[in-house]
Amino acid sequence: MNAPVISSVSLSELARRTVPRYTSYPTAPHFSTRVDAGVHAAWLMRAGRRADAVSLYLHVPFCRSICHYCGCTTKASLKDGPILAYAETLRREIALVAELTGPVEVSHIHWGGGTPNLLPPAAFEAIVEDLHRRFRIRDDVEHAIELDPRHVTRMDARRLMAAGVTRASLGVQDLDPGVQAAIGRIQPLEVVEAALAALRIAGIHDVNFDLMYGLPGQTRETIRHTAMNAAGLAPSRIALFGYAHVPWFKPNQSLIDEASLPDADARIELARVARETIDAFGYEPIGIDHFARPDDPLTAARDAGTLRRNFQGYTTDAAATLIGFGASSIGRTPEGFAQNAPDTAGWRRAIEAGQLATVRGKAFEGEDLMRGEVIEALLSVFTVDLSAAAARHGADPATFSEGLDRLAPLVEAGWVAVDGWTVRIERQPTEIARLVASAFDAYLGTGGRHSVAV
Ligand SMILES: C[S@@+](CC[C@H](N)C(=O)[O-])C[C@H]1O[C@@H](n2cnc3c(N)ncnc32)[C@H](O)[C@@H]1O
Ligand code: SF4
Repeated sequence: MNAPVISSVSLSELARRTVPRYTSYPTAPHFSTRVDAGVHAAWLMRAGRRADAVSLYLHVPFCRSICHYCGCTTKASLKDGPILAYAETLRREIALVAELTGPVEVSHIHWGGGTPNLLPPAAFEAIVEDLHRRFRIRDDVEHAIELDPRHVTRMDARRLMAAGVTRASLGVQDLDPGVQAAIGRIQPLEVVEAALAALRIAGIHDVNFDLMYGLPGQTRETIRHTAMNAAGLAPSRIALFGYAHVPWFKPNQSLIDEASLPDADARIELARVARETIDAFGYEPIGIDHFARPDDPLTAARDAGTLRRNFQGYTTDAAATLIGFGASSIGRTPEGFAQNAPDTAGWRRAIEAGQLATVRGKAFEGEDLMRGEVIEALLSVFTVDLSAAAARHGADPATFSEGLDRLAPLVEAGWVAVDGWTVRIERQPTEIARLVASAFDAYLGTGGRHSVAV
């Protein structure tokens, strides 16, 4: 392992460290072309023969305009033509995958983007019908969609409900007019209120809000105000993401004036103020960046120790197989990760040629699954029993000794407790969990630049 040793425990210094977000382990920079369409096809056929239900992820990489801060894989389209063409290719991809898996049972469907609500309703409904025709969608399926509140009318919400959508996530980000101007996303509170009301009137009550800290021009006062107004609308969940500024990777972020970005100490303070404000509204903290109402299934999963973390964030979804559809989507089977061509043209070429669009991935090998479990547990419930993890994988717990050594300064400072082989994050878990998890990442330091830890 050639990861840096954690040598000091100043939160402000730790916050400047760059570590992966660990929505997968191994992380995407370690994917390679060794996982191609042929390998993935074999994995999908095996998934079809297992009895367990699978999850589906559908990526829609279109937005009407690109927000300055956006780190998602998406592009601007003012017209519906390219989106309709994309929807047709998605339908062909669904047919191709279903030929490999057969009619597997489906427990979760997640639409992400980009802005999936830009799909014209008839196209969206045709895809949902295809999913029902080709797979066995469970009656209690969780059917979630990410929505841009600027494009949610009452009619849209009714159609989503009629198509079986059970959960929606609205990108709120920040409600301060000055911050909205600086991030290229003008979206007054009334727009969010109207979208939420439309969803509730239609019968979709499980709604998440995405908020962000670390944006240009944010102050304690503006973020408190944003968090109060957002939590005051009583969504069932709130996600609070630290703005990841990676302009070398996302050129649209060059539109953000770096001089107006809060520094590491200010980010810690902004996150603290937002968290305290949300907390005061009775929300329960979930993992490093989510909040849920006490009666939400995420809270129950946290308390039962069954909370999971995947590409979409925290979830109750325990399926071992996630099938990704659309350009850039990432899927997972018990054998490994598989990612589709990131560009829409490359993805379409493959699908139209009757092949999966898989271009890279990572077959699990060696300690990957075991270390992935440890990292997921630390980021979800902030504690892990290393000897139990080792036992599940027939390994020696001493495999983790090097990781424990790397945590020694944090243990000495009382931030992390180690009792035998059990590791528990004691203080500032949301700030340091990614860093603590990185102590058990055997690939760290070998995979490119990441965003800052806090
Ligand atoms: C696909 S968007 C949500 C749906 C819709 N496109 C919207 O913006 O309303 C996913 C979420 O990722 C978050 N996000 C985007 N860029 C980010 C970045 N650079 N750093 C951290 N979070 C980011 C935002 O909170 C955003 O709501
Ligand atoms: S934040 Fe949402 S609406 Fe804005 S560019 Fe990204 S995906 Fe599109």
